Amino acid sequence: MRLSFPHLVSVEQVTRADADAILTVTEEMEKVLEKGGDDRLKGKILASLFYEPSTRTRLSFESAMMRLGGQVLTADGVQTSSLYKGESIEDTIRMASGYADVICMRHPTKGSAQKAADAATVPFVNAGDGPGEHPTQALLDLYTIRKERGTVEGLHVAMVGDLKFGRTVHSLSLLLTLFPGIRLTFVSPAELTMPDFVTDKLAAKGTSFERSEHLEDALKADVLYMTRIQKERFESAEEYEKVKDAFVLRAEDARPSKASILHPLPRLNEIETGVDELLNAAYFRQARNGVPVRMALLSLLLDR
Ligand code: NCD
Repeated sequence: MRLSFPHLVSVEQVTRADADAILTVTEEMEKVLEKGGDDRLKGKILASLFYEPSTRTRLSFESAMMRLGGQVLTADGVQTSSLYKGESIEDTIRMASGYADVICMRHPTKGSAQKAADAATVPFVNAGDGPGEHPTQALLDLYTIRKERGTVEGLHVAMVGDLKFGRTVHSLSLLLTLFPGIRLTFVSPAELTMPDFVTDKLAAKGTSFERSEHLEDALKADVLYMTRIQKERFESAEEYEKVKDAFVLRAEDARPSKASILHPLPRLNEIETGVDELLNAAYFRQARNGVPVRMALLSLLLDR
């Protein structure tokens, strides 16, 4: 199996055949993980560059590389890297291409991932470019949805919270256009609606979507995808304070709902901890799926 792209910047590069290949190889990687890993990426090095906070994405990328026998070079924080001295992303990535066989990077600026991919001479993966995209999160969300629901086609998926700055919901919405019969409901405060760069593409692809300001509309869906209000992207503290607790999923609302509840994490107040014990609370299973999905992606990108 081969992917159609050498670098992963946006889910728009992902074809249905790519998505199917990643899902299939992820299932194989779940079995590899049960055995404690293997050594198919022995001798390969991942450069893991995180210029913005991360826990799950970074640890699961690094764990994925190590579970396949590879090794990891890490640079974290703009302050300890040459970006702090004013080095361009392009120069940083050119250097990293000489030190590693594959690169993943998270950076606070939308568009930084494309610049990096253009400069990379080894496979490059976007691990989040500011309020832009987060394609590997969308792939693990897709895998989680299929595992929890048995299928993706024909599902009603509701996304709730900060749809303006939340890169995970941008990528997931666009990735779901590959599947027929998908219906999307976007629930957000008026200030944080899904941006045009996403909705224009949904419209062009004929994927049906509606907007709402009511959490009840999301409780009726097959998948309820909650998100954190992205405090770090607001221009002022007052603007954030106005919307920070706009939607809170309570156990009494989640219990009767048949929706699988997802969240890319970290969560703040938007899901009460009482929801965690419900069978349909899938967010911790979702986070664990990050490892096999990234194992699949790394092995497919390096097998060219
Ligand atoms: C998300 C991110 O960084 O975009 N987290 C993640 O990667 N799992 C969501 C968030 O920070 O709210």
